[in-house]
Amino acid sequence: MSKAGSSGKYRRAKLRHALFTLAPDRLLGGRLLRRHLKDEVVVRRFEVPIPRWRSELDGLRIGHLSDLHMGDLMPQERVDHINRLLMGERLDLVAFTGDAVDLDWHGIERFFAGMAAIPAPLGHFLVLGNHDHLDDAEAVVAAARDAGITVLMDEAIDIEVADRGTIRIAGVDWSKRLQECSQQIAQVCTPDSDDVDARSCDLLLSHNPKGFIEATRQAVPLTLSGHTHGGQVALKGRPDRNLAVAHRLSAGFYEREGSALFVTTGVGSWFPLRVHCPPEVVVLELRHGDWVEPVDPDNSID
Ligand SMILES: [Fe+2]
Repeated sequence: MSKAGSSGKYRRAKLRHALFTLAPDRLLGGRLLRRHLKDEVVVRRFEVPIPRWRSELDGLRIGHLSDLHMGDLMPQERVDHINRLLMGERLDLVAFTGDAVDLDWHGIERFFAGMAAIPAPLGHFLVLGNHDHLDDAEAVVAAARDAGITVLMDEAIDIEVADRGTIRIAGVDWSKRLQECSQQIAQVCTPDSDDVDARSCDLLLSHNPKGFIEATRQAVPLTLSGHTHGGQVALKGRPDRNLAVAHRLSAGFYEREGSALFVTTGVGSWFPLRVHCPPEVVVLELRHGDWVEPVDPDNSID
């Protein structure tokens, strides 16, 4: 884990932020940011049938949050609002898939305290994203753990589910390259030879959606990712046709060989504009079953 602080990546990210966010906003007298912060955060709820999901865990409800990017585009009042959106969702666990901070980590404690307060008997889990490494990743991890959140750094843990055995939850630290990401996932999700269950993970958290390729090889039923923000600008009615052109797995659900991936468009932003790609928090209710593309009856993106 790097402690970057004043690294080149941090300085470049800060410069990009100044050039593409702060400067245009100032030129427009603050209108850009004010307008952006009026975008309502949508709660999207999906029932998700997955062929590889174990039926013992049917009905499990996950609250999925990602890409908060706490900073100029995500003030503390909005952070509190986001956590409140999940309070009444009868969740079993909460998963955060990276980029809690945008640049500077100071102040992230408030988000973690709010996230840890969301009722979820199986716990609250987090992996790091690329932005979490820009300033001080160790400080981000420490703040999350101090709040009672389980930070998964290339590891898997078994959690008891009342009367239903255990769920194995894995998480990998940020890596940009496919090969590296795949190696981390193979290391974490390949069952030990002395494992009595000899099974892979039930749930994988990977900021980078490229992790889905190895997760499918490892027969992981469900992978949750972020990172792409769904491009922040998408075609009307086609969230998969967006500005995240470098990512084939950029928004929504994907299924391969009985494994599923969900890529959330996230709650935060890199730049103060979202078009046909609202900020979102997501509730997933899972069950074993033949794959059918899940739809949210209340909030279809248009
Ligand atoms: Fe992000």
